[in-house]
Amino acid sequence: MTNTNAPGERPWLKTDLSVEDRVGLLLDQMTLAEKVGQTHQSANIDPEADADLIERGGIGSSLYASGATGGNERDGGVLSDAINAAQRHAVEGSRLGIPLLFARDVIHGHRTVYPIPLAMAATWDEELALACARMAANEAVVDGVAWTFAPMLDISEDPRWGRVAESLGESPVLAGRLGAAMVKGFQGEDPSAATSLGACAKHFVGYGLAAGGRDYDTVSVGQNTLRNLHLRPFKSVVDAGVMSVMAAFIDIDGVPMHAHRHLLREVLKDEWGFKGVVVGDWGGVGQLVDQGVATDLRDAASQAIHAGLDMDMCSGAYAAHLEELVQSGEVGMGMVDDAVRRILRMKLSLGLFERPYVEAPTAAFIPAPTPASRELARDAAASSLVLLSNNGILPLAADPGRLLLTGPFLDEGDALLGTWVLDGRGEDVASPGAAFRARLGDQLMVDDGRFSDVGISMVRHADVTVALVGEHRSRSGEDRCISTLDLPAGQLDVLREIAGLGKPLVVVVFSGRPLDLGPVLELADAVLLAWHPGTESGPAIADALFGDVAPRGRLPMTFPRSVGHLPWSSHQRPAGRPIPAASDPVHGRYLDALTQPVLPFGFGLSYTTFEYSPLTLSSTEMAPDGTIEVSVMVTNTGSRAGREIVQLYLRDLVSDVTRPLQELADWALLDLEPGASAVARFPVTPAQLGYYDRTMTYRIDPGDAEVMVGPDVSHGQVARIAVTT
Ligand code: GLC
Repeated sequence: MTNTNAPGERPWLKTDLSVEDRVGLLLDQMTLAEKVGQTHQSANIDPEADADLIERGGIGSSLYASGATGGNERDGGVLSDAINAAQRHAVEGSRLGIPLLFARDVIHGHRTVYPIPLAMAATWDEELALACARMAANEAVVDGVAWTFAPMLDISEDPRWGRVAESLGESPVLAGRLGAAMVKGFQGEDPSAATSLGACAKHFVGYGLAAGGRDYDTVSVGQNTLRNLHLRPFKSVVDAGVMSVMAAFIDIDGVPMHAHRHLLREVLKDEWGFKGVVVGDWGGVGQLVDQGVATDLRDAASQAIHAGLDMDMCSGAYAAHLEELVQSGEVGMGMVDDAVRRILRMKLSLGLFERPYVEAPTAAFIPAPTPASRELARDAAASSLVLLSNNGILPLAADPGRLLLTGPFLDEGDALLGTWVLDGRGEDVASPGAAFRARLGDQLMVDDGRFSDVGISMVRHADVTVALVGEHRSRSGEDRCISTLDLPAGQLDVLREIAGLGKPLVVVVFSGRPLDLGPVLELADAVLLAWHPGTESGPAIADALFGDVAPRGRLPMTFPRSVGHLPWSSHQRPAGRPIPAASDPVHGRYLDALTQPVLPFGFGLSYTTFEYSPLTLSSTEMAPDGTIEVSVMVTNTGSRAGREIVQLYLRDLVSDVTRPLQELADWALLDLEPGASAVARFPVTPAQLGYYDRTMTYRIDPGDAEVMVGPDVSHGQVARIAVTT
């Protein structure tokens, strides 16, 4: 049946009207059943089996995922012909012709895979984050995806939690700015353009605090930490225009986020003025029963809609009970209208009514990574690599003699893509083995890669060994939590044997989380942290080890001294008896261990050295509406080009609640040739010191503050400034 009423009979199709007018015209025509249908999101829609439900307007959206923990399993990929078939039932077979909204987790790439988000955070490069999101959107829309569930903005301080891999680290400012860049990349300048994806900030809020680093576990957190830390990156992306927000699985001090009226409706929607869609996480509405706050699915649906949750992902609670809840008077029609208005606003803003179908594969169709997407992936991977130690062995000479490449990731492809990769393919990955063979030919020694005795015996005949160790992609991501931070079993033992042979040893570590790398740093001549670098893993690592590019990443999460030191972050608040600085390790807080982290937030080396001039302040005082400039000249005092990421930290010295000893407020990327200098200039305003006080009132204190500028959170020059009254 082709329902092609002319725009005259469907005035909401008139593109000369505003989106708001079009929403209103359409909403006025909808029955309660059709409104409820829009609030229901299914998974993996079947165009034939679901045809009747679609034509009755019973589904508003469908996501393609392999299951409840989609990020870990592969599925059959996005079936764009199935999408078109299902869409025809909606657009041409239903009474009002409202298009379906198709979603997929395009987290760090689609067919071309960029470094995992935690690695992208290690680049500190907003333009790069935007470019990768844009390229991912260009690929995903060709497969019919209109909505992605990214960026993930959970403040991540516990490396045991597998989902830190998807996060943008522990700093609300770094995560907020990179997240805003990703939103702009996904949604484009014009969200209705054919290459735009709707973005989704997740998981609102506090998911990174799951007890014990155990996924889905409960969260106990105070208002100060919630407001002054975890909510901030979400506010940044709401201000950047993100079209949707996803509720977190967890509870906040006993109130599950899927029923959290204060945070969803009063803070996110009312206080922040968010006009987009609040979508539940997979089955999250139904899980209110498992969390013991809802008697049944009907009760869960009622609590969720009252809390301001607009779309139910896959629990079926809204589809089954919302109509009756309205008819019984338990749920006001206004609440459902608000939800549906938001959903229609998103669909209209994405241009779905004008362009509901996936264009037949055209020249834009991207069957595989292109030279351009590979180049971007290689640049992103290179920018995410963090050089953790180097006694001068790196960069390797173009002719390194006999180089042995060993370890369990030699010719790996899929393992290096990282978690949450649904459409990237292992066979697209340029592996480390391939990249080194291309560079060294027969000069390269390669063992069986199983870290076996064979490989160890080969070390004796090599001039330098490069060992590839760390985590497989399946060790991080959703429901992939680890109780220690050690390298996977056995790897450290083999590294010890190799190091014991007294030959030069370079270790490359793949990981989806901070690990306890202390022992590795002691054994190796150099350690390069590669995270999970994506499609161009091999070339990026080879480029860095041979010095074609200098490693330029900086840690977006603290690497603690051990799992026993958790929780720890770069924004510790002052205690009544402060923890002595790293310079005074004897008097730390543990009898059995030093306290300070092995690798602090913001840390990373390069192949050169940098010198900082004394800080320059335009003034040491700023009026409440004033600005001062803090600047520093940085000189490359070495013999190779390099990038310095100059970081600015602030501290409010006297505040109504305890505030961080240091909190990242800004940073600058300086790419410097040998001998060159550049000035990093930071405008500092009182607003950067703003926070919520004991009464949850936002305030900026007059009085003293400290500014620190340096290469990481543990090192820098400190100056005192003051906000005048
Ligand atoms: C998962 C994740 C969420 C993802 C969603 C859809 O359970 O928690 O991040 O976007 O389901 O796959």
